[in-house]
Amino acid sequence: MKNKKLVMIPGPTPVTRSIQDQMGRETVAHGDPGFVKDFKQVIEDLKDIFKTKGEAFVVAGTGTLAMEMGIANVTKEGDNVLVVSHGHFGDRYVELCERKGLKVDVLSSEWGTIVPVEDIEKKLNEKNYKAITVTHVDTSTGVCAPVAEIGEIVKRFEDTVLIVDGVCATAAEPEYLDEMGIDVLITGSQKAFGVAPGLAIVLAGPKALKRRKSLGTIRDYYLDFEKWIPIMNDPAKYFGTPPINLIWGLQESLRIIKEEGIENRYKRHEKVGKAMQKALEEGLGFTVLAEKDYRAVTLSCVEYMDGIIDEEFRKILAEEGVVVAGGLGSFAGKSFRLGHMGNIDTHYLVSTISAIERTLYRLGIKDVLGKGVSTLTEELIK
Ligand SMILES: Cc1ncc(COP(=O)(O)O)c(C=O)c1O
Repeated sequence: MKNKKLVMIPGPTPVTRSIQDQMGRETVAHGDPGFVKDFKQVIEDLKDIFKTKGEAFVVAGTGTLAMEMGIANVTKEGDNVLVVSHGHFGDRYVELCERKGLKVDVLSSEWGTIVPVEDIEKKLNEKNYKAITVTHVDTSTGVCAPVAEIGEIVKRFEDTVLIVDGVCATAAEPEYLDEMGIDVLITGSQKAFGVAPGLAIVLAGPKALKRRKSLGTIRDYYLDFEKWIPIMNDPAKYFGTPPINLIWGLQESLRIIKEEGIENRYKRHEKVGKAMQKALEEGLGFTVLAEKDYRAVTLSCVEYMDGIIDEEFRKILAEEGVVVAGGLGSFAGKSFRLGHMGNIDTHYLVSTISAIERTLYRLGIKDVLGKGVSTLTEELIK
């Protein structure tokens, strides 16, 4: 019998049965009173959980659309923007902003490290930046940016709107908009929320909404906060057809989050991230590529030991029942990316580490069986 394949890439993540059931319901009219109530609840829950007095937007699209929505509503052509990049997804904001005619300055770190917050502060003092973008967890490097510290700095710059890309962080790494100084949080449904791909989720705090108002009519149509605010406040209204079944999926995800408690969810991710990273490094002999102090809890970028060929490793691992992603950019061919976020329990974690052990064994590293699992278990039962 073939092994069931666990999808342990850094998104999409496993979609639990109760969320699948919601997405599998018979689609109703978008004006259906039951759906309107559900959509309203989703918007209220997002604002409550991520703590903003501003607005929440849930529209059909992916994380990239959310990135675009974030920047389009707080800048106009010719504005200065600062992009802090810790990898591939930080860099994505550079092209996106340039295409919008923004003047972009970039602060980049070497992959696996972060841009020091002092450098960010220094740069903000040099020019009037209308926005700064920071990727909370860059999925290409497994690096987590010190968003709380950056938020404290940006709070002092009245004219600068802080946009945080939470696609690989939201619902796993702490993100409280108003108190942390995050003005726009952009994210998607397919990672730590554990819903299928297809929802662009954006939260905008008071500073960002004030900026949007001051811009008048903007060029973008589908992305315009002003078009969507009436719908998000009263989903009985229409602007674009809502992705009904995905919204039900998100509603169930938010129910799971509320049941777990967001603080507990953050703590669980921290524990799981550390345990998985210890099992991979100390148990099995891999190296996690991100610097120790800035490791994400949501995924690990894992460097192979000598003699392991990336494609062969991932093929055998898939036969053993676990799908992981390849490394990106300068990490390509040398590493794999393992997601450990969302609605996953101990079964997923133990099975994943055990499948990695079996893969290494099949590749000739014979003394690993049980070592990763025992390190993982010791950490998890603490
Ligand atoms: C940090 C980050 N930002 C943005 C994106 C883009 O999201 P999407 O692929 O949903 O468009 C991703 C995708 O993995 C991501 O990890």
